Amino acid sequence: MSANYELRGNVAVITLNNPPVNGLGYETRKAVVEGLERAQADAAVKAIVITGAGKAFSGGADIREFGSPKALAEPNLLTVISACELSSKPIVAAIHTVCMGGGLELALGCHYRVASAGALVALPEVKIGLLPGAGGTQRLPRVLGVENALNMIVSGEPVKSDMLAMAPGQKLFQKIIEGDLMSGALAFAAEVADARPLPRVRDLKVSHPNADAYFQFTRNMVGGMSKNFPAPLKCVEAVAASVRMKFDDGMKYERELFTALMSTPESKALRHAFMAERATTKIPDVPADTPVRTVAKIAVIGAGTMGGGIAMNFLNAGIPVVMLEMKQEALDKGVAIVRKNYDAQVKKGKLKQDKLDARMAILSTTLNYADLKDADMVIEAVFEDMGVKETVFKTLDEVMKPGAILASNTSTLDVDKIAAFTKRPQDVIGTHFFSPANVMKLLEVIRGKETAKDVLATVMQLGKKIKKTCVVSGVCDGFIGNRMIEQYSRQAGFLLEEGCTPVQVDKAMEKFGMAMGPFRMGDLAGNDVGWYIRKRRYLEKPNLRYSKTADLLCELGRYGQKTSAGWYDYVPGKRDAIPSKIVTDMIEAHRLALGIAPRKIGDEEIVHRLVYALVNEGAKIVDEGIALRASDIDMVYLTGYGFPLHRGGPMCYADTVGLFNVVAAMNRFAANPLDDAAFWQPAPLLAKLAAEGRSFS
Ligand code: NAI
Repeated sequence: MSANYELRGNVAVITLNNPPVNGLGYETRKAVVEGLERAQADAAVKAIVITGAGKAFSGGADIREFGSPKALAEPNLLTVISACELSSKPIVAAIHTVCMGGGLELALGCHYRVASAGALVALPEVKIGLLPGAGGTQRLPRVLGVENALNMIVSGEPVKSDMLAMAPGQKLFQKIIEGDLMSGALAFAAEVADARPLPRVRDLKVSHPNADAYFQFTRNMVGGMSKNFPAPLKCVEAVAASVRMKFDDGMKYERELFTALMSTPESKALRHAFMAERATTKIPDVPADTPVRTVAKIAVIGAGTMGGGIAMNFLNAGIPVVMLEMKQEALDKGVAIVRKNYDAQVKKGKLKQDKLDARMAILSTTLNYADLKDADMVIEAVFEDMGVKETVFKTLDEVMKPGAILASNTSTLDVDKIAAFTKRPQDVIGTHFFSPANVMKLLEVIRGKETAKDVLATVMQLGKKIKKTCVVSGVCDGFIGNRMIEQYSRQAGFLLEEGCTPVQVDKAMEKFGMAMGPFRMGDLAGNDVGWYIRKRRYLEKPNLRYSKTADLLCELGRYGQKTSAGWYDYVPGKRDAIPSKIVTDMIEAHRLALGIAPRKIGDEEIVHRLVYALVNEGAKIVDEGIALRASDIDMVYLTGYGFPLHRGGPMCYADTVGLFNVVAAMNRFAANPLDDAAFWQPAPLLAKLAAEGRSFS
């Protein structure tokens, strides 16, 4: 049973009961309809209350049913809502905590709605590339007015019930109930038990004094703000239909738009990302109830670019941090940057001064390892050099208390080797933050060979607390994200040798939707970082061919924005990338030296070579068990590398193109003598899926 039925006096109470948020899955829908029938048949029942058990009225559709036939099985949500509207006895929705999507649409099918203050109300379908498909776009304007309803539907953002109840002329809530919701709802039900005719939202009038002008204005605005996503504009059209059409016609139109959106690649990508995000937390051999260690104090080693940003995450969550450096000046500099970042937030009105003070008050600094002895976890963010990491971890092993978690922020080094510097490898883990660490959502959690399960569970939980998207990665050079980016960068280098300019490659990738093309990204991150890594990496893999252009660039001292010169020229202090003659000359000279005659390369080839390089390496990463699933790779790229959300991540994009087509393109690339034929051999997983006509998802 996923809804309960009980009699409270002469009121039948139907309580949605499908944890965690009373999603309107098949069993729940069926139980509601059965409850309604039972109440109709019972002469003693004068009114009906529908409410939700536990933590929500209803969060909407049951996401576990997404894509399965159960989602549409009768009674579907539209049928449940009609059953409510057709009830001969008044139905009161008693709303609390969360009332979203289908949950709100169900409530709008009831005759009355009462709510506790502070309940979060939303139609968030637009966030997964859809629109409310069970009457939300037709009924909400009738109770809230066109403009309020449209804002909620287009943004998908929750609004508090008491705020909504203050909207002039609103008919969404008949009462906001202070105190016990159920007593209030029962009292309200008694009041309306004999009221006839029963009010139905569908019968309410909806209009706008300047409908044409208003909708044209919103079309322009929404269209401009949502260029890669079709759903927001369709939301506008659906709401416009509520004014223009009769209710039943509007419902039909809403359904048509909903069905069309369902099959767009953008909605598929958003739904994929939504599910992928939830999947990241599931680690097959580390169940959700794995005990975790207490982390009440954090130590950070190194107050450089990463150390300061890492510290901010914990300060924001109210967790005290002690930062250690080798020299006082480095500490002072690190703390000053943290303060400057907070100050900027205060200036923008995003942070209150007292919050800033509270955060700075729990940040302490030291030059002495003895001061770390009460920390529950330490995160090392010193230079990316195994020798330096060795010294630091040997010292940490001596000073940290037993059971403390020892984490490294290394971006490419072997976490197992780092763990072996200690006598407690089970307590060692990688926490790979992305720059700027206080802003970027991604946290790659690197599980070493010997990392204990409770250490992994603790770090995953801590990551959630500091609002990161945590993706587990096994140990390999570069982990998931940077291992893949190496192949992407290699292709970008080959493209320069074969005839492209940095501008052309960046433009093509940005048109595809990347936040930044590879060369602008290099200039931002610092080209010297990659240079340093290549020196180590290609020493270990001397046979791996790569374009030397990036090394030549660094030899000219062109490290990127920080030196006001990289792949582009920069005016000091500004971030605008200006195409550089020095760089084009350098590339041409290099080409000449290699004896390559440049050819014209189209945007499609650029995009496919770069993205499929990610896909092929990604498939190897899944094959090797470095990533738990292909969708984890998508989350890494969506949250850490600016991959366009409307494409759902590289693996999802490959699925959209069709793996057969992806493999065919790889075979073409392999035939290019200036490329790396060995790399383009499809990864075993990719070859297998393509041959079987399957996809990563
Ligand atoms: P950074 O050079 O800005 O900062 C390193 C800091 O560590 C310096 O302030 C230095 O004084 C300090 N340090 C060096 N040896 C030390 C020791 N023995 N004891 C105490 N402090 C010491 O470097 P950054 O960029 O912050 O990188 C740190 C780590 O984070 C590296 O492992 C790097 O690979 C990784 N990382 C860097 C990213 C980036 O975008 N910069 C992104 C993700 C990871």
